[in-house]
Amino acid sequence: MTDGGLLRDEFPITARLNYLNNCSLTPMARRVRRALDEYATLWSEWGGRAWYSHWMAELEALRTDLAGVLGADADEIALQPGVSTALVAVASAIDYAKRDTVVVADIDFPTDGHVFLARAHEGVKVRFVHSPDGIGVPLEGFAEAIDERTALVCTGHVIYSSGYIQDVAALARLAHEKGALLLVDAYQSIGAVPFDVHAADVDFLAGGTLKWLMGGPGLGFLYVRRDLSPRLRPTALGWWAVRDPFSFDVTRLDLPETARRFEYGTPSVAAIYAAPAGLSLLDEVGIDTVRDRHMRLSQRLVDGALEQGWTIRCPRDAAERTPIVTLEHPDPAAAVSALRAGGVICDNRPGLIRLSPHYFNTSEEMDRTLELLAPLRVAPAIA
Ligand SMILES: Cc1ncc(COP(=O)(O)O)c(C=O)c1O
Repeated sequence: MTDGGLLRDEFPITARLNYLNNCSLTPMARRVRRALDEYATLWSEWGGRAWYSHWMAELEALRTDLAGVLGADADEIALQPGVSTALVAVASAIDYAKRDTVVVADIDFPTDGHVFLARAHEGVKVRFVHSPDGIGVPLEGFAEAIDERTALVCTGHVIYSSGYIQDVAALARLAHEKGALLLVDAYQSIGAVPFDVHAADVDFLAGGTLKWLMGGPGLGFLYVRRDLSPRLRPTALGWWAVRDPFSFDVTRLDLPETARRFEYGTPSVAAIYAAPAGLSLLDEVGIDTVRDRHMRLSQRLVDGALEQGWTIRCPRDAAERTPIVTLEHPDPAAAVSALRAGGVICDNRPGLIRLSPHYFNTSEEMDRTLELLAPLRVAPAIA
């Protein structure tokens, strides 16, 4: 069965390359470039006036659009430079006096642990839940780790190295049963899997635009549950976190009741222009279609790789993962270079080749990738 790609004309890179590095950075769409051109024109022709004539309105519109993608309300969204800064903002707002421990999975993205390890001098402890297979983490592992000392559980919605989708609603229940809060790193999930923050009952969720939201680097976001914001006082913040930044009152820290109290300073305006263009693609294709294509294309890769004898480090079943497909290899950087020579763009992580198709990819591209992979497999040593 062949399967053509969606909206290929939007992505010039597809004319030249078999682009399978989407979980790292989705390629630039034509409409994103047009939005960036518009930003450049405004900057060039209006200078600082563009803040008031255009940019502030764009920023607030984007806050509303991002809230829509998450199933949140606009006042539950803080705009952020990225996920790490969002995590730092949350970490700075937690009271560790009675509960000093943060629970993180040992296969989570490094920043999820580092932000809390950096607070060791304040007595913050990080308890790592072990993944027995390097693919996912059983809920029981979290259940055992979360106790009355747990302030926060900070873990990925989707594991960056295996695509494994965690049951966030179940994690929220586990955390709440013990009086802890849940902070979800959703960088790898939003735009790839249907998700609603209110339905899942998460407390905080951080993400960004460069992956499945297709808006390029430079912009992140933090969802903070409505009733939490007024109760939390972040210490990592900047002048955009106050009720009225343009009062320019250096003597008063007057925080709004909303998630905006988790913001820092002047945002990247280029990213604020690129992001809505990326979001419009998601709107046009629809999250269910995105998910369906991800499942079909990645399953073709998984099935083909297994037939060739590869050891995969991602769930076999597409329902349990995003389109991240990881194959074990002793020298993944060399394998990724060899694939690049054949026109396939993918990435490596320690011990792994990581491939991630998107809706514009075709089934022929998956088959071509498998052809190139076949000679790269290193047979396991016989004991
Ligand atoms: C799951 C996850 N979290 C966080 C990050 C990094 O986020 P940032 O660079 O915006 O801090 C990444 C980047 O690849 C990621 O995959």
